[in-house]
Amino acid sequence: MSLKPKEDYAADRSSLDPIEIASRDEISGLQLERLKATLARAYNNVPHYKQAFDSAGVHPDDVTSLEDLAKFPFTVKEDLRQNYPFGMFAVPTNELARIHASSGTTGKPTVVGYTKNDVDMWAECVARSMRASGTRPGDMIHVAYGYGLFTGGLGAHYGAEKLGCTVIPISGGMTPRQVQLIVDFQPRVIMVTPSYLLNILDEMEAQGVSPEDTSLEIGIFGAEPWTNEMRAQIEARAHFHAVDIYGLSEVIGPGVANECIETKDGLHIWEDHFYPEVIDPNTGEVLPEGELGELVFTSLTKEAFPIIRYRTRDLTRLLPGTARSMRRMEKVTGRSDDMLIVRGVNVFPTQIEEQIVKIEALSPHWQIERIKQGNMEGLRVHCEANPTDAGEDQRSAAAAALVKTVKDFIGISVEALVHEPGGVARSEGKAQRVVDNR
Ligand code: DLL
Repeated sequence: MSLKPKEDYAADRSSLDPIEIASRDEISGLQLERLKATLARAYNNVPHYKQAFDSAGVHPDDVTSLEDLAKFPFTVKEDLRQNYPFGMFAVPTNELARIHASSGTTGKPTVVGYTKNDVDMWAECVARSMRASGTRPGDMIHVAYGYGLFTGGLGAHYGAEKLGCTVIPISGGMTPRQVQLIVDFQPRVIMVTPSYLLNILDEMEAQGVSPEDTSLEIGIFGAEPWTNEMRAQIEARAHFHAVDIYGLSEVIGPGVANECIETKDGLHIWEDHFYPEVIDPNTGEVLPEGELGELVFTSLTKEAFPIIRYRTRDLTRLLPGTARSMRRMEKVTGRSDDMLIVRGVNVFPTQIEEQIVKIEALSPHWQIERIKQGNMEGLRVHCEANPTDAGEDQRSAAAAALVKTVKDFIGISVEALVHEPGGVARSEGKAQRVVDNR
């Protein structure tokens, strides 16, 4: 199937929630009212917030404008760890409808809770995100985000049901079966991490299914960084629209922000529920719109787990609204803790992805190995030849091309290893982009 014009998928204005296209004044009026209630809720029900606000000398009653939020202390992941498992909850556990948790690669997992109203609000945000992505009631949705404590699977699932779609709750893994069900059930939309999508596309080809001939018209990809270069490659290969969905468990899960398919110009933040700020990660100072910094969120309507000025560590900038009145965030291509410093040069893994995707002889699977080179840190980039692999000579030419383009565009010298097809570990969820072997 050929890629239909993205404008054809734009949601009818009459189908939007009125607040999506409300005036800025209406949006900020609603935000202020909700912010005051959330700060009070946190202060009165969560000992951590009472103590943190008291030591900062601030009180919810003092808030008279949205800018006053900047006087309140930040919340960081460590605060959630310190209060493991339920210390940050503003309701007793018998009022919870659901618990999710982050995988917690280091230390204890981060636990988050939802009341019934929170689950409904979250489903509304995901439904809104899916509609912005071009999904319509009645569509069949293949959900290959993992189900379980991870918020991806169940978050997408409830949103799809709320929008009036038919869900295929396949979760991650069992890749051959993913392909079989896409072929047999003919879903119109797939929701999956971009790295696992690439794995599924390879499996299609291995089974003799042409990715461009499936029923899929839209992919809603998130949970990990992916570049516009990767988008272009996926759209050219699979002939469906690739749209970005963002979120994090501490704030709710997927559906905090989403691109509109007709513009694909950054992600509209659902600002009636999540108040964004961008700060200088070193000083904590709030930055003006348009400047790059760390994204910080305050929930505006959550009951069980209100979160105040949570430092996401995701780097982006805030931009004015386009297809919706709500502000956009630029596509997140790095987290402050993903940044590698190679001989004084700051590098984000996605910058390497941009270069890999440009080289035709390479498939889009990659991983970076941090290595020691003498006393210095070095990077070894593992990638693989695409399935038309023409052998050793072509692979070393591709490796040399990658080394050169990384040097030219990023300014660092890396080692590049081009493996045979299938030689780089495949993702079934969030890809592990960096391994540390120093
Ligand atoms: O990954 C929620 C989610 C599920 C989002 C499915 C989208 C789709 P966590 O496991 O808590 O939650 O991880 C959140 O993942 O702070 C970002 O660093 C990263 N992330 C999520 N979405 C994107 C995206 C889910 N679209 C962390 N682009 C976030 C870049 C993303 N990074």
